[in-house]
Amino acid sequence: MSIVFETVAWAPRHEGRDLPGAVRILDQTRLPNETEFLLLNTPEEVWDAIRRLAVRGAPAIGIAAAYGLIVGLQDADRDKPVDFLHHLDHLVHYLGTARPTAVNLNWALERMRAAAHELEPGLTVDVLLQHLIQEAHHIREEDLAMSHSIGEHGAELLRAGMGVLTHCNAGGLATSGFGTALAPLYVARERQIHVRVFVDETRPLLQGSRLTAWELQQKGFEVTLLCDSAAGHLMREGKIDMVIVGADRVAANGDVANKIGTYMLALAARSHRIPFFVAMPSSTIDLNAPTGRAIEIEERPAEELTEWNGVVVAPKGVHVCNPAFEITPHQLVTGFITENGVLHAPFALGLKDMVPQAVERERSEEHTSELQSRQSI
Ligand code: MRU
Repeated sequence: MSIVFETVAWAPRHEGRDLPGAVRILDQTRLPNETEFLLLNTPEEVWDAIRRLAVRGAPAIGIAAAYGLIVGLQDADRDKPVDFLHHLDHLVHYLGTARPTAVNLNWALERMRAAAHELEPGLTVDVLLQHLIQEAHHIREEDLAMSHSIGEHGAELLRAGMGVLTHCNAGGLATSGFGTALAPLYVARERQIHVRVFVDETRPLLQGSRLTAWELQQKGFEVTLLCDSAAGHLMREGKIDMVIVGADRVAANGDVANKIGTYMLALAARSHRIPFFVAMPSSTIDLNAPTGRAIEIEERPAEELTEWNGVVVAPKGVHVCNPAFEITPHQLVTGFITENGVLHAPFALGLKDMVPQAVERERSEEHTSELQSRQSI
């Protein structure tokens, strides 16, 4: 099997031509039993696939949404570029409502919107479409490149024989195909550094056992699966030397939104003095969220807890609390493994430096204040 999964990609309808096409995803609701690909032909299908986790993981849903815009725009009236841009804005808003927590979704959509609006006025719809599909391809390719860099930097932290625990799925299935939290494991293995990998099953929807254990097995790893509540026990037994998880959104101060269960893992790791790393690309940083308190936490349907594959597993009428994510405070994070290297505390400055727009904004503010102070001399 190739080192990269075909998690989400663009599928042109005609060979040799990008447009028209559809979004092709690996249906993650069917794994590990069936490997089935779906073609999504409308924005509604893309929205639904994101909402029901057929495509999931922060970077992957951003890429799916970027391509989802194209499926919604490719049949637009060729004579009305202004209507095209209005429709684009409408679709950006619509697709952005599919899930609230992972910032990559809105990051990718806003990047697509900016790519179209920044072009000079008066361009034809065909030119706008060509430009947008190229931008979506760039988002996917950049994510792949960032994943590889995350892997290179993260592998530096690993030593042969270490026990590494991960939670949820932050692998190839959650990204353009290579992963964030799993990327260091892939690169380490290329370097002949063999670690023991432990995977939390990740309640309630089992992304750990259904997806991560499957993904790692496909790539020839020996994996040990554990239920979430076994993690503390394994740490106490000395089996875990490092925890690496992904992130759905990282606030400006380093607070991390990730799959429910991450916080307990971080607390247990701190108690056992086990390093706790978060691996993510810069597209997961949200400088508009000063702390984790500003991050919306997705609440999923009660049936995800009260039923399993249609079988009722809880008493009728029971109250259910089913948050999909939670905040892990930055104080519990040992470091962030990013495409630019490993960031250690204090995090605020390092995270800000990784967001190009923030660096540009700061430069232009500095420039303006320099001009103003020159004028006042
Ligand atoms: O609900 P999911 O499966 O989309 O949650 C995914 C996670 O929590 C991942 O850890 C996160 O998105 C990082 S993916 C590289």
